[in-house]
Amino acid sequence: MTLPFYDAVKQLQDAYLMFPAFQKAFDQVEANLKLYRATGIAQSLLVLGESGTGKSSLSRLFTERYPMKTLPERDVIPVLFVSIPPAATIAGTVEAVLAKLGDPDPERGTVSVKTARAVKIARGCSVEMMLFDEAQHIQDRGRAHSQYFVGDWLKSFMDALGLPVTLLGLPRMQSLLQVNEQLRRRFAHRLSLSVQPAGIDSNEDNSLELFASLANALPLPLDPRPYGWRELGLRLQFATDGRIAYVKQLLVSAYEHAVNQGNTSITPDTLGSAFTASIWPSGIGQLNPFHSEFIFRPLDRLAEPFQMGEMGSGASQRRLR
Ligand SMILES: Nc1ncnc2c1ncn2[C@@H]1O[C@H](COP(=O)(O)OP(=O)(O)O)[C@@H](O)[C@H]1O
Ligand SMILES: [Mg+2]
Repeated sequence: MTLPFYDAVKQLQDAYLMFPAFQKAFDQVEANLKLYRATGIAQSLLVLGESGTGKSSLSRLFTERYPMKTLPERDVIPVLFVSIPPAATIAGTVEAVLAKLGDPDPERGTVSVKTARAVKIARGCSVEMMLFDEAQHIQDRGRAHSQYFVGDWLKSFMDALGLPVTLLGLPRMQSLLQVNEQLRRRFAHRLSLSVQPAGIDSNEDNSLELFASLANALPLPLDPRPYGWRELGLRLQFATDGRIAYVKQLLVSAYEHAVNQGNTSITPDTLGSAFTASIWPSGIGQLNPFHSEFIFRPLDRLAEPFQMGEMGSGASQRRLR
């Protein structure tokens, strides 16, 4: 591979797209921050998406838009971005918050001492919004009782601070809210980061649009033949489950295949090979979304790449890391 090849791949890897679901979630987080600044009203939001839909990228991008400032007498942290640790306990969660607030000794004290300290430092740093990524880890403790417990802690922490909160996590974290009614009410507003297939009546094709705009970063054009653009869009939706990370992965691999074979465009054939190489080795024939005999159903059954639940999401998370 030559230098221009790696340049093109890097350009694609670094490309950030405000695709509609992403933009909508970003705008809503920002609207909540502005509402709080103008009125003191704390409105919260739940952003859901499978692994690879852009939750962490969104949090990072938003935090960068409102960066921390170091004043002579104190730090100002407008947006506090905390990633909930795996298998979170209340203590672990509050320690993660303290660490992000710059507390020199996050492990010191009982849970209530730590919580009081976190509230105090957050006020001192003029925190105006909290973003909690990997929020499903709160729920991963398992038994309903402990779920209620961490959820309860979060609720009282939110009450003590009176700040708008954005939780980002996997769709299955909705069950966390299921067991805590008050938390459920606070996070009644929910958005999804998955790119949904276009409706039957719709003239636009969201996944194709997304793909095509990312493909613009590559030096080779996209050629849908023998399919039409709409059909290619549908096939792309099945191949990537509408997740931005898979869209990128598929494009990088397709570009590599095209260059290796000396092709001048990226065709469904190239995409088919790329799907097998980068997303699902068993995805051939009827189970390859770019194959003429593809069966046109979501690939979310047992041992398929977008399998729901523990096993499937585990496998896809590993691949995406
Ligand atoms: N808006 C975006 N535009 C382009 N690429 C994105 C975007 N959001 C995420 N990605 C890419 O997708 C990959 C996974 O994103 P990430 O934010 O980690 O997803 P999640 O946290 O939902 O698992 C990253 O490598 C990132 O480059
Ligand atoms: Mg993430």
